[in-house]
Amino acid sequence: MPVLNESRVMSRLDQRVTETLSRLHRDAEADKFVFARSIPAALGAKLRGRSVFQAVAPRLKDAYMPVTPQMGEFLHITALQLHAKTIVEFGSSFGISAIYLSSALPPGGRFIGSEMEPNKVSQARRNLESAGLADVAEIRPGDALETLARPMDQPIDLLFLDGWKDLYVPILKLLTPRLRSGSVVLADNIYTFRRELAEFVATVSNPDNGFASMTLPFKSGLQYSVRI
Ligand SMILES: C[S@@+](CC[C@H](N)C(=O)[O-])C[C@H]1O[C@@H](n2cnc3c(N)ncnc32)[C@H](O)[C@@H]1O
Repeated sequence: MPVLNESRVMSRLDQRVTETLSRLHRDAEADKFVFARSIPAALGAKLRGRSVFQAVAPRLKDAYMPVTPQMGEFLHITALQLHAKTIVEFGSSFGISAIYLSSALPPGGRFIGSEMEPNKVSQARRNLESAGLADVAEIRPGDALETLARPMDQPIDLLFLDGWKDLYVPILKLLTPRLRSGSVVLADNIYTFRRELAEFVATVSNPDNGFASMTLPFKSGLQYSVRI
């Protein structure tokens, strides 16, 4: 995995962006303890046939669960390649991927993130501010199924899916009418949650649904889909 401050991709960026990202990636290392504590709740939900995501959500209120620096850089250069003026994110957490994405916006561009945990919303806003991106990026608080249904000024150029996995298909269906032709949908954790995301992968892999799609070999599995 590339080390952030040695990366050529990030060295073109404002120092506030790279410093904020380095600090956040360091803070996120405490996540492993939060995950360990949520395992019993996840197993209990699985045994009872309940949603694992609903069961562990209260225990993950303080967990970053961010993209790796490598995936963050891929998000960043994909946004650059697309000249993405409108970027939308499902699941912003503390704002790490939001910073990689919104730091690639051209002048006049806009980033719309979403997060349901109130403390993460305020921290994500603070982190975007410390990266100097507060004027181009917003985090919509609450359930993304409602907040991302609200109007956006322009068609979407790039959509990043990283919230709870049982909502990838509903969020995709909600936003598909707003994806411009040639836009890209990136979705993380295809390998981490192979079973839970099988329906999502089948949906974007079926050409009748208007996408061309493949899974990129990041460790967690990143689905790359182009809107035809
Ligand atoms: C894996 S984390 C996102 C990490 C973030 N993309 C990053 O790289 O920094 C998933 C986040 O999605 C949020 N989330 C899950 N379901 C949501 C929903 N329905 N609406 C808004 N946020 C949601 C969770 O609270 C959690 O913070």
